[in-house]
Amino acid sequence: MNILLLGSGGRECAIATALVESPKCDRLFIAPGNGGTAELGTNVALDIEDGRAVVDFARENDCELVVIGPEAPLVAGVADVVRDAGIDCFGPGAAGARVEGSKDFSKRLMMKYDLPTAAYGTFTDCDSALAYLNEQGAPIVVKADGLAAGKGVTVALTKEEADEAICECFDGRFGEAGSTVVLEEMMTGPECSMLAFTDGVTMIPMAPSQDHKRAYENDEGPNTGGMGVYSPVPEHLVSAEQLAAMVEIERRVVAELASEGITYSGCLYGGFMLTSEGPKVLEFNARFGDPETQVVLPRMKADLIEVFLACDAGTLTEDMVSWDDDWAVSVVLTSAGYPGSYEKGKVITGIERAEELPGVTVYHAGTALRDGELVTAGGRVLDVTAVAPTFEEARERAYAACELIDFEGKTYRSDIGMRAVKR
Ligand code: AMP
Ligand code: GLY
Repeated sequence: MNILLLGSGGRECAIATALVESPKCDRLFIAPGNGGTAELGTNVALDIEDGRAVVDFARENDCELVVIGPEAPLVAGVADVVRDAGIDCFGPGAAGARVEGSKDFSKRLMMKYDLPTAAYGTFTDCDSALAYLNEQGAPIVVKADGLAAGKGVTVALTKEEADEAICECFDGRFGEAGSTVVLEEMMTGPECSMLAFTDGVTMIPMAPSQDHKRAYENDEGPNTGGMGVYSPVPEHLVSAEQLAAMVEIERRVVAELASEGITYSGCLYGGFMLTSEGPKVLEFNARFGDPETQVVLPRMKADLIEVFLACDAGTLTEDMVSWDDDWAVSVVLTSAGYPGSYEKGKVITGIERAEELPGVTVYHAGTALRDGELVTAGGRVLDVTAVAPTFEEARERAYAACELIDFEGKTYRSDIGMRAVKR
């Protein structure tokens, strides 16, 4: 079958890689795609938040399945438009995607069903938010309610920082997304991401993973889209009991949404903090994680097309997915200056040599083809991923591969996965 995949990041490159491995895949179109997806299928220019445009393209090109990678088209309801047109779709409709599209909706849902998360307040005007801040004091976490491309959260250690973050939201820094603000108790502990496939009833948890969100080593510096990730997460960081608790929380979310008449199908992403009181929810996302997908899918044994179709059709069964015992480590190569301003258009070399190393796959994130040459086109450029029987080997292979790749301004953290090493 022909498939249309929406998105352009490392996540979509990893999804595309798995889709073309399926014997069911004829033609794969990626909108808009990147320099890496261009080698896996056909990149097409399309407004991916315009459901009609997506349906028109899918019909003209006989696509029987649309896979939605990023949150913006999900929250915009593109999955609903695709399904209404009679085309199969992977990803929740707008009603389900609110778990990510509105922090307030997601917090209300958790409170209503007594799911463990940080205490919070929601505000639609600056004065009330500042009054709550005065009552609660710092540290406190300030979140723009709507989608803000991963930039809408400030973990404020002082009242001044919180004050500034609140005012920025109400001054329109995130547009409409910041016109409602959630203030949350700060939690502490290691983080763990748990993705799960679901058809609205059945759930298949994927392997846990740990993202590294801060820009600099030792988890210092500003938050980013993710600087590296590994999977699975060892027992000394997350126990089997904690994993089961996380999966149970996600099952409840899907079940409670169903009880309210919302069928949530696709991938549900739970971001958890492992607090001294047990796992608590940081956030839900209505999609695969980026860069989590880049270490989860390479370890998965399944026909991804079959799984995607079953999620949509309500026919998901647990035997559709199994896991390799291997470890996966992915290091993100960024452009110098990221997450601040950075330059684009730098020529990238060495990917082929890197991929000759055993177990190494280089997923493209911010790359483009310019006159036949591969160049940087974003802050996160490449996700250099290695799979190996032990964590140490996976890590060594990933870093050996990073050294073989070159572009002006290449930057990366050298401590990805160090938390997995028991001290
Ligand atoms: P979110 O997009 O809500 O997951 O927030 C992004 C990041 O901010 C998370 O991965 C955490 O590192 C941090 N964060 C969010 N909420 C909290 C919280 N209540 N306490 C501590 N850190 C938080
Ligand atoms: N890795 C964080 C996210 O995908 O939201």
